[in-house]
Amino acid sequence: MVQKIFIKTFGCQMNEYDSNRIYDSVKKIGFIKTDNYEDANCYLLNTCHIRDKAKDKVYHEIGRVKKIFRSKKKPIVIITGCVAQAENEEMLKREPYIDIIIGPQSYHKINGAILNFKQRKKVEETEFDAVSKFEYLSRINNRSASTSSFLTIQEGCDKFCHFCVVPFTRGPEYSRPFDQILEEAKNLAHQGSKEIILLGQNVNAYNYNGLRLSDLILEIDSLKQIDRIRYTTSHPKDMTDDLIEVYKSSSKLMPLVHLPVQSGSDKILKLMNRKHKIKDYLLIYEKLKKINNNIKFSSDFIIAYPGEDDKDFNDTLNLIKEIKFVNSFSFIFSPRPGTIAENLKLIDRNICVQRLKKVQKQLFEYQYEINSSFENKIINVLVENQTKDKTKLFGRSEYMTSVILDGSQDNIGKTVKAKILRSNHNTLFGKIIKNYDRRVA
Ligand code: SAM
Ligand code: SF4
Ligand code: F3S
Repeated sequence: MVQKIFIKTFGCQMNEYDSNRIYDSVKKIGFIKTDNYEDANCYLLNTCHIRDKAKDKVYHEIGRVKKIFRSKKKPIVIITGCVAQAENEEMLKREPYIDIIIGPQSYHKINGAILNFKQRKKVEETEFDAVSKFEYLSRINNRSASTSSFLTIQEGCDKFCHFCVVPFTRGPEYSRPFDQILEEAKNLAHQGSKEIILLGQNVNAYNYNGLRLSDLILEIDSLKQIDRIRYTTSHPKDMTDDLIEVYKSSSKLMPLVHLPVQSGSDKILKLMNRKHKIKDYLLIYEKLKKINNNIKFSSDFIIAYPGEDDKDFNDTLNLIKEIKFVNSFSFIFSPRPGTIAENLKLIDRNICVQRLKKVQKQLFEYQYEINSSFENKIINVLVENQTKDKTKLFGRSEYMTSVILDGSQDNIGKTVKAKILRSNHNTLFGKIIKNYDRRVA
């Protein structure tokens, strides 16, 4: 009998990639995906631990499932991802409704865990074993290709920023073998992917026997089916000259550099243990702008980190004014269990909220400015799918901005030329002028 699995994913793109790959795996033991969790035989929650009440969200979600299944046969409940790693067997003790806990480096064991559980054994797997995970995932092939596909090339982090749980939930830095990644990229291209987004918690720290992210980008650039290449998330410290130079030689590398700075104040960067200064960041910016003045930057900001005074905060606002970031993320500092910053004295909540509002207002202003600058212009859009109501097409600009277009379904999977007619701070709206097969740098 066909078994149905419902997968809910929280957190970053790496979790999305993992959820797709978990599905590739459980298909082998007879599961198909359902979007309706009421008829699921297996309920999988792929969790994120980065901010706020991550743990509580998981228990709340399980409470909901319990209610829905009160009068039906209980599904197998699996918790994966970063909360699973951080909490491990504690979760099984606190919530007996959970059957299986699997951390991010143990997904190669998921089929075994499900089959074991069917013999009534609760399972907890939270070893850090990235080698076996990716060897296994490569063997079962990535069948989750879409127009824009994620491809994890690197896992984990050795940098230990004082605010961040990632080194504890994803383990030490690990770079997948170069050829393994290229095989997966070719496979995605054959299945129809046009864009590959290379992923890693520290994607530009990628180093496999001396082969770097720049080498990978150039190899993927030579795949004729691929139109666009992106990578995320980078650390300023690993923005080496070879990677900067690749913006000269790759015609498919998109001109948006997502490079989280976190704060505009050197004092705060030092307290955060970020290992870079603002002058380093500005130097990277200048080098890239010199290569291609159309390159834009996006970033992540942590607002109201303990110790941030008005001057530090203004330094962040000034950096935003200087760089004019697009498509950025900003968050109030959230103390995470087990990190150095866990017990630092928090800034008054009202101040945090006010600072966040100010930063977001500033970011939105530039976002609005850049988006409206595209009005009445013709831009390249990679069409990914239809909008939910199926009346329009959805795609992305080279800067990752959402674009809603009038046009026929035949354009899905193609890079088209589109005229932008109007915009708001996060979306462009327009119509297709003509199909267009390749970006012109
Ligand atoms: N490796 C990336 C880097 O070095 O910038 C960041 C990866 S992290 C998964 C994504 C973002 O979450 C960070 O850039 C940071 O802005 C935010 N973040 C991480 N820990 C946080 C915390 N404790 N409170 C608020 N935001 C946090
Ligand atoms: Fe977290 Fe990124 Fe710092 Fe690593 S480099 S600890 S992933 S913020
Ligand atoms: Fe969250 Fe883990 Fe990603 S904590 S942001 S799912 S690496």
